[in-house]
Amino acid sequence: MQLTTEERALLAGEEGPGVRQAIEIVVALGKIYGANRLVPVESVQVAGVSYKNLGAAGLAFLRQWAAEGGRIRVPTMLNPAGMDLQRWRELGFEETFAARQNQVVAAFAAMGIETTCTCTPYLVGRVPGLGTHLAWAESSAVSFANSVLGARTNREGGPSALAAAISGRTARYGLHCDENRLASVEVVVSCPVRGAADWGALGYLVGKAVHNRVPFFRGLPLDGSSEESRALWDPLKALGAAMAASGAVALYHVAEVTPEARGAEMLRREHETLVVDCLAAGYWALSGDGKPLKIDLVWFGCPHASLDEIADLAGFAVGKRFVPAVWITTSRQVRDAAEAAGHLAAIEAAGGEVVADTCVVVAPVGGRFKTMATLSGKGGYYAPSYLGSEVRYGDWEQLQRIMISGWWEARHDS
Ligand code: F3S
Repeated sequence: MQLTTEERALLAGEEGPGVRQAIEIVVALGKIYGANRLVPVESVQVAGVSYKNLGAAGLAFLRQWAAEGGRIRVPTMLNPAGMDLQRWRELGFEETFAARQNQVVAAFAAMGIETTCTCTPYLVGRVPGLGTHLAWAESSAVSFANSVLGARTNREGGPSALAAAISGRTARYGLHCDENRLASVEVVVSCPVRGAADWGALGYLVGKAVHNRVPFFRGLPLDGSSEESRALWDPLKALGAAMAASGAVALYHVAEVTPEARGAEMLRREHETLVVDCLAAGYWALSGDGKPLKIDLVWFGCPHASLDEIADLAGFAVGKRFVPAVWITTSRQVRDAAEAAGHLAAIEAAGGEVVADTCVVVAPVGGRFKTMATLSGKGGYYAPSYLGSEVRYGDWEQLQRIMISGWWEARHDS
């Protein structure tokens, strides 16, 4: 591997053991994956933030690295933590867990990391440009950065993302290279795709079929010529998150919509074609046995909710009284913006909660909600195993009925 003079100095420990450890990790990964050089990264997103997943050993590892001089060189954010960092007590998180979680966040802060905890950095101002190199870790964020923004990142693990943040570099392999960004599966969608749950169901089906390959979509009802490209962000974040969960899709293209597929056929000459003409199988797969069920929790905000998504829920909440618990998980900044816009008041008056910094999958809420309904393909995919909950997957109209009645009535069969 070719290293610059500066990189060789970091490897020699000239900036201390914490930096040496970071660049050693980056170089070791590069050797494993056949990289011939490192590339500077513009930003990093670190996963492995919830104490539920990290545990005491992970916390000790972080503290040790910070004590050895591990300090970030590029803007770095965190994935969701295990609780709302401000309102954990009123949301029912235990004192002992909260103390440990705060220690984890403090260890990251000691490294200079911005303690924004979100899987949607692009909704809080971290919008990388086309072709920029990143080291992001959370699978839906990785998918969004690669696909919707045209930036370049592999899916980093917790230590490798931190190593990239401290060394300022990552190894140039995988999705950092042009040749790996071409699609090998053409996905022709011939059925209607209307709301968030449809995008999640489509993502679930395609992820299952393509695994970790790159799909190229045709036929999606999205207008890539619109001046307001951000109007496409909510559908595409739902699609990408579900594909990353049911498969391991880290990059996808949508013909004439996503930046690398505007005016370019990002499809290998040799490719498979997959036709999706019905989404019902996605709904069924994510809905357990589909039988009527009393619902304990309705969960929105996987990936973390945008301000528009919270506004929609607030509009529905006006004058209602929710029967089950209703949680909308989001970043602290979006929660603050929702509060300023008056959305929180309507949701809270109906009995819902806009929960910041965390999500239902990484928070220690297993056993608390025995049944759950969602319109997130990723949330629906992970909830049974992470929460031990029975899950129902429905569209916006079904979830509205559940919030009012507390019951899942029937499976979506369209
Ligand atoms: Fe984000 Fe948690 Fe979903 S990290 S993508 S809200 S499982």
